[in-house]
Amino acid sequence: MSTTPLREPGDSIYYEDGVLFLLDQTLLPTSEVLLELDTHDQVVDAIRRLAVRGAMAIGVAGAYGVVLGAISAGSSEPGVVRRAARVAIQEIGASRPTARNLFWALERMDAVLQRGASDTTTELIARLRGEADAVALDTIETNRSLVECGQELIGEGAVAITHCNSGPLAALRYGTAVGVLMEAHRRGKSPHVYVDETRPLLQGSRLTAWELGRAGVAYTLICDGMAADVMRAGKADLVITGADRIAANGDSANKIGTYGLALAAHAHDIPFYIAAPFSTVDPACPGGDAITIEERDPDEVRYCAGAPVAPPSAPVYNPAFDVTPAGLIAGIVTEHGVLRPPYTESLLER
Ligand code: MRU
Repeated sequence: MSTTPLREPGDSIYYEDGVLFLLDQTLLPTSEVLLELDTHDQVVDAIRRLAVRGAMAIGVAGAYGVVLGAISAGSSEPGVVRRAARVAIQEIGASRPTARNLFWALERMDAVLQRGASDTTTELIARLRGEADAVALDTIETNRSLVECGQELIGEGAVAITHCNSGPLAALRYGTAVGVLMEAHRRGKSPHVYVDETRPLLQGSRLTAWELGRAGVAYTLICDGMAADVMRAGKADLVITGADRIAANGDSANKIGTYGLALAAHAHDIPFYIAAPFSTVDPACPGGDAITIEERDPDEVRYCAGAPVAPPSAPVYNPAFDVTPAGLIAGIVTEHGVLRPPYTESLLER
């Protein structure tokens, strides 16, 4: 049996014998269903419909999707397998545009295809599989370090607000922003987390609340519109979220609603932090205006958890992400420490 070397109980993504196993995040918290994917088309579909979501999780799923694309070519001819892997890279790359980590992972897979011109099919597939494992392992190790680096921001009994989901479901085993708070809990600091429900798809209430509850972290669920009032009432010490893409100047794209949270934090003199690894940073992107923001199906806003909450043809604006300008970000927690402004310098210095 050939299992991902990194599989541990509780992991929501792992690979075994030509099958990618994913915990279907669309069904949480009511059902825990493991999807078994054996083609890259299925991986594309899982990423598009958010069965796997979160910047780093889709990067890892995408890397294994390339392995599946190569295997399902079903050919002993290396050229045919190489072409199938390239098609998989292209189609997986077209699934969601915003998260840098997806492209970071696919670029690594593409680099494997550039090497070993005389490889047999078996060698080529083994090298692709090895790189996908390395992408997953790097993601885990990076986040292990990131959640430790974030501890300098979390005092005893700290109260944080977070948005969307940046725990292990989104970023493998340790998570990023939610992972920093989970690590604080493991260290006995007794943090309390206000969890924005995160409309339209409720990643906060469905996923973050589920993860924090299972980890034993104290939390309070709020609707997105309540966060500013929590701050005004003096109930929060900090705001911390993940990111999907960080531009070279520190502008950071994250789940829609993050920008409003950062503005409210600024108005109340509460520090707003981003937690994301360097694989989320896009040095080729000079600022937030250059980040491609995904727009999703209007029905995600017209319906809530499957129930209609608007006239069926209500005109809708549904960007999946917004950009928080660097000037509102007090620090970026990375695997190399907490970066401070100006980010044009600190992002380059590590
Ligand atoms: O649309 P989603 O659920 O994939 O959006 C995810 C987020 O916005 C997360 O906060 C982000 O990926 C950072 S966690 C790795």
